[in-house]
Amino acid sequence: MAQPTNRVFSGVQPTGNLHLGNYLGAIRKFVAMQESHECIYCVVDLHAITADLVQDNLKQQTREIAAAFIASGIDPKAHIMFNQSQVREHAELAWLFNCVARMGWLQRMTQFKEKAGKNAQNASVGLFTYPNLMAADILLYRATHVPVGDDQKQHLELTRDIAAKFNHEFAKRIKETGHGGDGYFPITEPIIEGPATRVMSLRDGSKKMSKSEPSDMSRINLTDDADEIAKKIRKAKTDPDPLPDNLDDLKGRPEAENLVGIYAALNEVTPDAVISEFAGQQFGAFKPALADLAVEKLAPINAEMRKLMDDKAHIDSILDDGAARAREIAQQTMKEVRSIFGFLG
Ligand code: TYM
Repeated sequence: MAQPTNRVFSGVQPTGNLHLGNYLGAIRKFVAMQESHECIYCVVDLHAITADLVQDNLKQQTREIAAAFIASGIDPKAHIMFNQSQVREHAELAWLFNCVARMGWLQRMTQFKEKAGKNAQNASVGLFTYPNLMAADILLYRATHVPVGDDQKQHLELTRDIAAKFNHEFAKRIKETGHGGDGYFPITEPIIEGPATRVMSLRDGSKKMSKSEPSDMSRINLTDDADEIAKKIRKAKTDPDPLPDNLDDLKGRPEAENLVGIYAALNEVTPDAVISEFAGQQFGAFKPALADLAVEKLAPINAEMRKLMDDKAHIDSILDDGAARAREIAQQTMKEVRSIFGFLG
């Protein structure tokens, strides 16, 4: 099949609460890219078992991400939305990529080091080869663009390395089998842009906002109500100085910089515009404005998510339909990949 030229793939793990970082760094971009691209969005449940093997509420968490996608504006009819484990070809291609990727490439992955912590010997092999499954997710659909937050940059570089190595090693076979001229897999473009590619913790401006951080006060969850959002912003760590009149003076003030970035992203303006509006003001004035804005933007998503979660069968049928459509593309890719490898059958 001809290479697609404008296909987007991205995924979110169903591990705990979705937060403002996921929304601003990823999901909102997913929504915007639907205008110009053919999009495939995936709840990556196979990735969810790499860190903690036994997940208590995997089905529920999977539905919650799907509900968040739809509530944020993803159109599962015009595009494809599904959960990864329903399309077996992800696991199959990941195995083949285990044989393409080199040990040294994976050993450099900073996320593995962070997640495995001090006890790397006890981490699952799946956590180590996690980036190969991620490359399989993307390349199974020969996606050309992948919107993500900044923390996924290194994984996307690895995806490009895998595609390039595969194309290089199999260059002759790809031509012989008629599956491509300049290579079979695209060298995927990461889309990491805007003021919220790395939303930081509300309690510590040096750490990213994360689902796994024990303190719930460190993040705004998409399921938080207006009171919780206001309380978390009111209690967010800041410094005693007022907001400056230029962006350079925000350097070295990570908490202030983070809140300005969040405001800019939520309001879809530049951080410069936020600084001009609030120059000289104290956080006592800025925080309530930020809380109002966050509630205004997140409350409709929150309400829609709750509504969707009341009808689980409906969400499941959307995911089943998406999986059937994803499978068609995935099966065709695997047929071609198998023939490039030279497997019998
Ligand atoms: P996950 O589930 O950790 O996060 C989902 C998306 O949210 C972004 N993100 C953030 N963006 C800005 N600030 C933050 N504090 C923040 N925290 C998270 C992430 O960058 C991501 O875009 N490995 C991926 C899931 C995945 C995937 C894929 C992504 C699996 N296969 C294929 C793209 C393509 C992950 O763990 O995301």
